[in-house]
Amino acid sequence: MKLVEIDIADILNGGEERREYWSAIVIEQFKEIGFLRCVNIPGHDDAELLEKANWFHLQHSEQEKMKYTTNRFDPSTPRLYRGYFPIIKNQGSHKECFEIGDFEGTFEDHQAKYDTSSVASLMLEPAQWPQFEKESSQEFRKTVRAEYEVYHMVARVLIECISKGLKIDIEEFRKRTDRTCATFRLIHYPPRADIIPESCKLPTGEIISTPEHHDTSILTVLENFNYRGLQVQDPKTEKWFSIDTKPGSFVVNVGKILERMTGGQLRSTIHRVLDLGEERISAPFFYEPNVDADLVDLTTMEKWSDVPYGLWMVQYVKKFVEYNSLPSYEK
Ligand SMILES: [Fe+2]
Repeated sequence: MKLVEIDIADILNGGEERREYWSAIVIEQFKEIGFLRCVNIPGHDDAELLEKANWFHLQHSEQEKMKYTTNRFDPSTPRLYRGYFPIIKNQGSHKECFEIGDFEGTFEDHQAKYDTSSVASLMLEPAQWPQFEKESSQEFRKTVRAEYEVYHMVARVLIECISKGLKIDIEEFRKRTDRTCATFRLIHYPPRADIIPESCKLPTGEIISTPEHHDTSILTVLENFNYRGLQVQDPKTEKWFSIDTKPGSFVVNVGKILERMTGGQLRSTIHRVLDLGEERISAPFFYEPNVDADLVDLTTMEKWSDVPYGLWMVQYVKKFVEYNSLPSYEK
């Protein structure tokens, strides 16, 4: 399936008329299929990002990477949220990740600032930057940080298009996302070499690397480099389609939160990743609300959750294997 392409530089530089034009296309695609492709993205360097993802995942042993993991995988670390997630064998989802949020600083300062029983202490946890070879580690940090900003910019540009297209005051989006808990991940999917769980074998003989799911984000912005494998289920026919690749572009989809923010007008579409028997790298950015944002349908201003985003999110993700040991929070 060829996704419709949205020209980000033209939205940024083309003036009001072009913004109106692109807003209508963004709305149309998000209503129909929930997916589109962004091209012509100022500041995005796919080759550089891929090199850094390869450097982290392929040039270091699991033992080295585990120095930056979370408490779920190494009970001796107090880190709970950001860092390295190793592969968990024989699970539906077969991948290892390096993950950061928007937050910098030392973990000690962070712990002194936040009450550890509050969900903010979890979700605003600073990154664990690898300290392997000194120079390359600094380059890694520089590139990943810079790309985080590029992805974040694209998410904001698309939200402005959505606000314009659906006539929702941009301030309503801004005040719920100006301290976003966004997550940026570098994912490595090695082909499965061990036992393949029965649930991951499709009747067609294909193998699943990430089972079908909705994203919970507002938007998910994804660089697939030149790796195939992403499939989207057509919401009307329930047929599966493979998404083509185009390095230097972002595939963007609507998450559950945006679907609910827009009263169901924009569609959060089910998707999955196939294991095609080869190495695969991808770099998704999950654009999320502020930790204390109320969860509201912005078309009616009705709340759809009694608790703010952070508490809602922890409850939700605890069902995933990477997060099932997170503490429970009440504030
Ligand atoms: Fe997803």
